[in-house]
Amino acid sequence: MKILLTYSSKTGNTKKVAEAIGEALQLRAVPVEENPNPAGYDLIIAGYWVDRGTADAKMKDYLSRLTGQKVALFATLGAEADSEHAANCLTNGAALLGEGCEVAGRFICQGKVAEEMVEMMKKMFPEGHPHAMTPERLARIEKAASHPDEADLAAAREYFSQLCLGVQ
Ligand SMILES: Cc1cc2nc3c(=O)[nH]c(=O)nc-3n(C[C@H](O)[C@H](O)[C@H](O)COP(=O)(O)O)c2cc1C
Repeated sequence: MKILLTYSSKTGNTKKVAEAIGEALQLRAVPVEENPNPAGYDLIIAGYWVDRGTADAKMKDYLSRLTGQKVALFATLGAEADSEHAANCLTNGAALLGEGCEVAGRFICQGKVAEEMVEMMKKMFPEGHPHAMTPERLARIEKAASHPDEADLAAAREYFSQLCLGVQ
């Protein structure tokens, strides 16, 4: 089976996950900036960092240009991986795919939120604003700071190894 593994990463979290998957499948993780040609692959594994609830702009563009292909998605995000928000972020990524694509798998894990982003949120959103920096939000961000960790990377390796055994 011919598999293409591509990813988009701004601060390195999604790149780490992509490289772990690449290690497990013995594939090179190709940055989406290289605009890998998807023609002739049986499966495309595409990873993104979550930007405002969906795929970041570069992967958004790439996913929307895929047609008639089997695609497995993975992503990293600041929120908890088992949250409703995380599930929606994968569903929103899947919705970006071009005509006739089939979603063959989904994987998501937490990723450290960049310091600048946290500072910007603190400045931009005053108390009472829906995005204001509440103690709960700060606790989530602190929890995300150690991710993706070894357990996340092991889970990604395992998930995609199993998936690729099952995909014809
Ligand atoms: C502009 C911006 C928007 C973000 N939007 C979300 C979001 O909607 N939900 C979320 O859980 N995390 C959000 N994050 C956190 C990132 O998705 C997370 O830190 C991710 O792991 C970054 O991946 P990377 O290191 O591969 O760039 C956002 C981060 C930035 C910088």
